[in-house]
Amino acid sequence: MAASTKKPATKSASKKKAAAEGSKSKSTEAKKPKLKSASKKAASPKSASKKAASETVKSEKTTAKQSGGTKKAAAPESKAGKKTIAVCRTTDDLGAVTAKWRKAGETIALVPTMGALHQGHIALVEKAKSIADRVVVSIFVNPTQFAPTEDLDRYPRDEDGDLKRLDKLGVDLIWAPGVEVMYPDGFTTHVTPGSAAIGLESDFRPHFFGGVATVVAKLFNQVRADFAVFGEKDYQQLIVVTQLARDLDMGLTIVPVATVREEDGLALSSRNAYLDEDERTVAPNLNLVLREVANAATGDGASVSYLRAAARMRLLTLGFTKVDYIDIRDAETLKDYDPLSGRPGRVLGAAWIGKTRLIDNVGIGK
Ligand code: PAJ
Repeated sequence: MAASTKKPATKSASKKKAAAEGSKSKSTEAKKPKLKSASKKAASPKSASKKAASETVKSEKTTAKQSGGTKKAAAPESKAGKKTIAVCRTTDDLGAVTAKWRKAGETIALVPTMGALHQGHIALVEKAKSIADRVVVSIFVNPTQFAPTEDLDRYPRDEDGDLKRLDKLGVDLIWAPGVEVMYPDGFTTHVTPGSAAIGLESDFRPHFFGGVATVVAKLFNQVRADFAVFGEKDYQQLIVVTQLARDLDMGLTIVPVATVREEDGLALSSRNAYLDEDERTVAPNLNLVLREVANAATGDGASVSYLRAAARMRLLTLGFTKVDYIDIRDAETLKDYDPLSGRPGRVLGAAWIGKTRLIDNVGIGK
């Protein structure tokens, strides 16, 4: 599924092996990314370039434009004089840091997020570290992918906590633009995603993938990474972004990471924080039912429409209050699944418990 449109310099063979195995320990559905093989750059000057980057940061500290009283971009934000992780908030400052890395022949992996980080996001960061010399994590709660009725205002935010976690992980740079930087006055262009965006989530959140595709295209152009790491947790998003990178020649490889789950099967999600104690006990049943469908789908004579209807009833019986969809799709194209085709399938679902909407998906025959 990796959209390979560029042949980036990758890390050493042992690092690549780790890249392939990295997510397994924390995930239930590990999947190997298709990384292109390329010899490691001779004497990839990671430490030398790190120094260069931090010097960039120092010199920019005195020259960086101040925008509306916001923090100086690229300046390593410090607490009590202690140097911490570098945070860029303008495209100029981001470009200055990443240009030095590129000049030094270093590869870059981008992990796009909306913050409020949990172990699912951390698995993406670990994968990114294992495949590239430099890791950029973007934190941007993207308003264009939320409908006016959705939870933009109450979406969890914890930038200080996120920066601390990412600092400990050794992430090189945080890209945290404000809304006025991402969508300045006069912003008018929107990306229309391709076939994978039709149906499923789009039937219930029609604005969603247009917003995702637009912001992801901007993030790709801003960071100009060699790799971008996405979670299978948001499987339709992963396929939409893979099509986007391929169709628009974005020049980077999309690397998937398997869903990280709680022990009871519930996929980690920032929105799990909305669940009260009773709802939390209902929540893992989404994964349970999707797995039941995946098992049944491989059986003789399984009818997709019967399985869909039965799963819907079962979720309602198990405590979900509304089911948006349960469906079985081709795992690579998201077109209708044909059990006889021999192609990989994916079961995807979205359901509500009270005011909280959960999504999940599982592979067929895994
Ligand atoms: P967000 O919900 O913050 O997710 C960021 C990335 O983390 C996505 O690739 C998502 O699939 C992955 N992720 C979330 N939970 C996961 C889990 N339990 N296991 C593995 N990966 C997980 O998805 C978005 O943000 C936005 O739509 C974004 C792509 C940043 C565009 O705004």
